[in-house]
Amino acid sequence: MRLLDQPRDSRDGPGAGRLLAPRLGDGARMDPYGVIVGKRDLRTYTDQPIPSGTLLRILNAARRSGSSRNRQPWEFVVVTDREERARLAHCGRFAAHLATAAAVVVILIESPRDQFDAGRCAQTLMLAAWSQGIASCPVTLHHDVRAREVLGVAAGPVIATAIALGYPHPRGRGPIERMALGILTGRGRKPLADLVHWNRYGNRRAPAASA
Ligand SMILES: Cc1cc2nc3c(=O)[nH]c(=O)nc-3n(C[C@H](O)[C@H](O)[C@H](O)COP(=O)(O)O)c2cc1C
Repeated sequence: MRLLDQPRDSRDGPGAGRLLAPRLGDGARMDPYGVIVGKRDLRTYTDQPIPSGTLLRILNAARRSGSSRNRQPWEFVVVTDREERARLAHCGRFAAHLATAAAVVVILIESPRDQFDAGRCAQTLMLAAWSQGIASCPVTLHHDVRAREVLGVAAGPVIATAIALGYPHPRGRGPIERMALGILTGRGRKPLADLVHWNRYGNRRAPAASA
């Protein structure tokens, strides 16, 4: 089926089955497009720690992200300590999964105007993790004062987001996550044809060469 003819993607509905990050065999290479379109935000992880080399590979990919004027306005606080993660889990309204993640990467930016760059960096980081078989889910730390205290971040850098990382649980999403997703994402993904305008806003007819 052509991409533009595809209906709403309902794989994400509450009844979705097991969702596992890709597993890499020794020396195997992932298809990059498959990594990108197959990436899911998962919040239920195993207890398996992430090897430090793998964590550094993921952070290195994030470091390589593009940014406005190449300012690279980010820094990372990598929280692996169990107690610190448990404290972070109380810094956001939906942040409970930070306690059960293998690691949390908090992205700091220089100013609120850097949020677009933070988004680019966060997605790079999460896709790099997914390519290594590691799931992730970003979360807002709503309680900024508390989060700064936990992280030891004094006034200055802005906390953009926190990203939980962990190996996906073999049983898939946990019950709380499934319930939340029923509300948040039962709607699945919008079809491409609803999103694309060709040459001019409102023109939905794809030029023959693009069809
Ligand atoms: C309870 C809950 C809280 C979430 N909070 C955030 C958030 O604060 N920021 C964010 O970018 N994504 C958050 N997400 C993830 C998005 O909702 C996610 O991108 C969306 O559900 C699509 O997920 P999928 O790629 O697995 O289909 C949250 C997800 C859940 C289940």
